[in-house]
Amino acid sequence: MGCYNCHGNPPKKKAPTFAQLATDYAKARDDDRALQKLADKLRDGSILSHIDAHERLSPEAALQLVRWISEGAR
Ligand code: HEC
Repeated sequence: MGCYNCHGNPPKKKAPTFAQLATDYAKARDDDRALQKLADKLRDGSILSHIDAHERLSPEAALQLVRWISEGAR
């Protein structure tokens, strides 16, 4: 879905790499409420810097991706 365009290695703009995000998100692993919050935050462009690729995600896709990241992004 183009995520790696910005979050690859080396990352573009101020994007964190998925490896960095995985470290941050590991604490939400297996915590459905924490994962849901991260997914909502990702889709809410007003908190981050209006990234189309984030705002276009469906709630289901965002939750899936956040869960994938929390499990190590592999
Ligand atoms: C156009 C470049 C770009 C694309 C494409 C992109 N991102 Fe991002 N992403 C960023 C940037 C820049 C940040 C940091 C935003 C900030 O801190 O304001 C970010 C932050 C994030 C974060 C951290 C949010 C947080 O602070 O907790 C996650 C998770 C994330 N992106 C996931 C994704 C996923 C999944 C995709 C693919 C659907 C994606 N990104 C596509 C640029 C991008």
